[in-house]
Amino acid sequence: MSSFESTFPTRIVYGYGSIDRVGLEARRIGLKGRCMLITGRRFAKSTGYLDRIKGIMESEGFDVYVYDRVKPNPTIDDVEDGVNQARMAAIDFFLAFGGGSAIDTAKMVSVASSLGGSIKDYLYPRIVDEPIKPVIAIPTTCGTGSEVTRYAIVTIGFRKLIVAGWSLVPRIAILDPETLRFLPPDQVAYTGLDALTHGLEAYFNRNASMLSDIYAIEAIRVVLGNLEDAYKGCMEARGILLYGSMNGGFAINMTGTTMIHGGGYYLTARYDLPHGLANALIMPPILKLNMESQPNRTLNLARILGLPSSSFEEASESILKAMVSIEDRIGIPSGLEALGIPVDDIARLAEEALTYKRNLENNPRDLSLREMMDIFDSVYRGRGV
Ligand SMILES: [Fe+2]
Repeated sequence: MSSFESTFPTRIVYGYGSIDRVGLEARRIGLKGRCMLITGRRFAKSTGYLDRIKGIMESEGFDVYVYDRVKPNPTIDDVEDGVNQARMAAIDFFLAFGGGSAIDTAKMVSVASSLGGSIKDYLYPRIVDEPIKPVIAIPTTCGTGSEVTRYAIVTIGFRKLIVAGWSLVPRIAILDPETLRFLPPDQVAYTGLDALTHGLEAYFNRNASMLSDIYAIEAIRVVLGNLEDAYKGCMEARGILLYGSMNGGFAINMTGTTMIHGGGYYLTARYDLPHGLANALIMPPILKLNMESQPNRTLNLARILGLPSSSFEEASESILKAMVSIEDRIGIPSGLEALGIPVDDIARLAEEALTYKRNLENNPRDLSLREMMDIFDSVYRGRGV
């Protein structure tokens, strides 16, 4: 078990209507001046949240500059556009309202506009530990955990790269389950499965520690127990998922992600598959191999989740069954073929996955090119286990 160190600098305000406190909370940590409200083109406007948040911030004495050009899976150019706007508007802090893309965009715009240069100058392996202008995050999906993490993801060509460092952790996260009321069921499914993989990847991880396990197991437990109801529209379950997603964020803050994310990145960058869906498709066979490398931890997880666990084989099988079953129940396509991905691309997928060295280093066991090809081959027509 690894030693650990961690910092949790985010003030978290969870609850129905907590969004109304965003201005007050910003003032309480000493923020002043002009904030850039970073969001996508439609959701905030069509639901009335844009005007509402603007009004709340203005009533607390802040000047609000709206930037509503966030796109899914932001590219370097998308981020640079935000950076230029932030520089021109002399922004003092950032307020992201949206899914992972909005929150990640806010983090990266803050990095480059606070520290100078282009966001390209700050890509991993550089660690951003210089102070940047504060970010407040209001997630409207239930999966990325970006509202508490030290990561932001940017797309360059067909690659997903990260900007990382404790400076990126938002200062305030407002978790208001009411924002999830408008989330379409497929987005609940994809983002919920992203949170589930965060838990699984933090648990079966070379950097796992006693503390990261608490958050990882809680994320797994909460998502397994609530995702189906949340998918069907139950607001209470959606609210609990928002909490689960935050736990997943805490967990990967400490451990990083493994080859489930490594294998999913290219699927998203190349075929535009939603991040959580890409992870969900490749998760079962990688999880199976990773569990084989950590039999005692597998038994422990099955016991904690209340799954059959009289032997390693039974524990591993029951965990896999739980994962595959939840994917089946919430409309996840049965494999890559169903999504129109050409079978000839499997070798390329395997090669690209292994270029994510950081994920491979975190993975509890090495994976060879042959094994990665077998993994993609096995998820081509089905769940792969
Ligand atoms: Fe993720």
